[in-house]
Amino acid sequence: MPAGSEVSEPEQIPLARPVVGEAEERAVVEVLRSGRLSLGPRMQQFEQAFAARVRAGFASAVSSGTAGLHLALRAVGVKEGDEVVTSPFSFVASANAVLYERARPVFADIDPVTLNLDPAAAAAAVGERTSALLPVHVFGYPADMVGFERLAEQHALAIVEDACEALGASYADGRPVGGRGHPAVFGFYPNKQLTTGEGGMVVHDDAALKERIDAERNQGRSAEMGWLEHDRLGFNYRLSELACAVGIVQLGRLNEMLTARSWLARCYREALSGIEGLELPCRDADGNARGWFVFVVQLPREADREETVRALAARGIASKPYLPAIHLVSFYRERFGHREGEFPVCEDVAARSLALPFFPGMEEGRVARVAEALAAALGR
Ligand SMILES: Cc1ncc(COP(=O)(O)O)c(C=O)c1O
Repeated sequence: MPAGSEVSEPEQIPLARPVVGEAEERAVVEVLRSGRLSLGPRMQQFEQAFAARVRAGFASAVSSGTAGLHLALRAVGVKEGDEVVTSPFSFVASANAVLYERARPVFADIDPVTLNLDPAAAAAAVGERTSALLPVHVFGYPADMVGFERLAEQHALAIVEDACEALGASYADGRPVGGRGHPAVFGFYPNKQLTTGEGGMVVHDDAALKERIDAERNQGRSAEMGWLEHDRLGFNYRLSELACAVGIVQLGRLNEMLTARSWLARCYREALSGIEGLELPCRDADGNARGWFVFVVQLPREADREETVRALAARGIASKPYLPAIHLVSFYRERFGHREGEFPVCEDVAARSLALPFFPGMEEGRVARVAEALAAALGR
């Protein structure tokens, strides 16, 4: 290669990047200096502010979304031998949480537009052992809760909402996801709309549930009990004061971060709209508003997804097949004998979906770079 003509590495565009800054740093230092690193005032402050934000009566901070799902399922009475009807198009944790209680996740197919569990398919999956429904607001788009509430009423089922990806989403009446009364669980992993590093929140409108969830996240101690007293089985699912302090700051800037995500989604929609055969995330409809979490496209059926990922990576652009169908991951295949063909809509979507870089602060120029690289990779 002649001198001076070295090819420079393309600038790397990651899939996600948390928005944390000096305010979070100051909040963490303050907690460190206070000497109160767990079970202190920040937890209660974070819980109250979060409950107000999603218009729920109560909130319990927990160590992860997964921990929150586990506690919520226990709190509504899911037990060994029960069946819980849920979506196969979700992060594996939603189904795993059911298994923690030796209950069985029973999958039903998804709606091809919203990618959320289809209430009609869920209805067909309800059986004698079904005790709960676990809809997931996948990619931040509100699930059809009116449909699930009707179904739950018909069969006397509990509902737990997996809202881990849906902070900021709302319904036609303006009610936020999480504000419908029954337990809903949010997650605060670094790719989420709000992060505490690791963390989660269970929200609902039931004082008795709050008491139970708080005790079970804290080794089975109720509020008035001493450190070595335990009146039930519990877990260590507490969220530290450090994490809660970060959460409080993040909540204060949530609107700004959500606005940045919505803007970015609009940029992507415009930049990608000319790529023939590429399917974009569904638009908000029927008054539902997505809380933007990821930007996942469906590649044309003839496209080679692995090759597309490689082509984007060669240009410094991260992308990821997202999400795999839960029933087809090796553990679920082996444990339950699931096979291809059971949930055709989910399988088709899972085989073609690709997450593109998406985080507040990503500039329009980078969106254009991703769009150009994707078009080239697809031969468009
Ligand atoms: C739909 C869904 N459910 C559950 C979880 C689990 O949350 P966490 O990673 O905080 O345990 C996540 C996030 O990672 C998720 O996206």
